[in-house]
Amino acid sequence: MYELARDLLFKLDAERAHELTLSMFRRMPGLATLPFRQRVPADPVRLLGLDFPNRVGLAAGLDKNGECLAAWQALGFGFVEVGTVTPRPQPGNPRPRMFRLPAHRALINRLGFNNKGVDYLLQRVAESDFKGVLGINIGKNFDTPNERAQDDYLHCMRAVHARASYITVNISSPNTKNLRDLQEEGQLRGLLRALTEEGRVLAQRDGRHVPLLVKIAPDVSDAQLDGIALAARECGIDGLIATNTTIARPGLDSEPLAKEAGGLSGAPLRPAADQVLGRLRAKLGADFALIGVGGIMRGADAARKRELGADLVQVYTGFIYRGPCLISECVQATADVAGSTPAVAAETLNPLESPDSRGSK
Ligand SMILES: Cc1cc2nc3c(=O)[nH]c(=O)nc-3n(C[C@H](O)[C@H](O)[C@H](O)COP(=O)(O)O)c2cc1C
Repeated sequence: MYELARDLLFKLDAERAHELTLSMFRRMPGLATLPFRQRVPADPVRLLGLDFPNRVGLAAGLDKNGECLAAWQALGFGFVEVGTVTPRPQPGNPRPRMFRLPAHRALINRLGFNNKGVDYLLQRVAESDFKGVLGINIGKNFDTPNERAQDDYLHCMRAVHARASYITVNISSPNTKNLRDLQEEGQLRGLLRALTEEGRVLAQRDGRHVPLLVKIAPDVSDAQLDGIALAARECGIDGLIATNTTIARPGLDSEPLAKEAGGLSGAPLRPAADQVLGRLRAKLGADFALIGVGGIMRGADAARKRELGADLVQVYTGFIYRGPCLISECVQATADVAGSTPAVAAETLNPLESPDSRGSK
């Protein structure tokens, strides 16, 4: 069924197809997801003080404005990360800015944090009756210079704190000029210290600790990666998400679209993302939360991320190519790696609806 829908959608421009799908998911989440719902096994896991019904989440960027939470819930994701959201709305880069590379099961995008702003996102979240684990991914506006980036992140953090299960600090998009410079150790430590300090103030205000995660790029040297790992731990960050899209073009020599500027995602990203993940786990030891993302196109790719040390995984491009069957496939595969038999093999169409899954520490 999904193949049919995908073949039709793939006849449209990539961003147009994306908008059309999201608009249907937003207007009629129950009906629009009905033909695609899968039996998703239950594989509950507690991490970061939160209860996840399974280890497979929706990666940031697909639902930037948090408009389709009911649809993601119905499809069986174990958690959903919305955003990247910025303090003020912004249109992003000129179109076209999203490209499919079907022969490589990949996408290239240079959207540039197009989003309706943090207040709009919070209204959508407030309207929804979503009770699952909700990550809110925050960024800076394109016209905020890096010297004032901290203000944008703090603004978003204060705004979303009461609504988020966890907050992701995105310093790894290749599509906002110089954003990735924030990963440089000196700048990073200053930013992370300010955010974790604010986190303590907000925890007092809201009566709960909201885990703070940092999402990193795959295009970093081993030395830089080690510096990021150390900075994250020393500054009191709760976890890392590895990785965002890559500016490299591995294996795409004969692909005409490879010359398009932007971040590459999907199958060609997996080796680099896996390498970063494995190195982070080796550096950080067993107790630091890691989310693995990048190039998961089938269950075995998700299982591999678990083996490399991911506590949880996220999907984006694989979901576009494979559809909702990828969710159940990855849930099963990651549950098998954990050595746990799924407790319920029966249909769990709303696995996100666990009473205390917003969690508190
Ligand atoms: C079209 C598109 C938009 C994205 N937007 C964001 C974003 O706003 N924030 C973010 O942190 N990651 C964003 N990402 C990165 C994904 O969350 C993910 O890290 C990356 O695509 C690798 O996973 P994948 O290979 O499963 O797609 C985006 C990816 C794509 C393809």
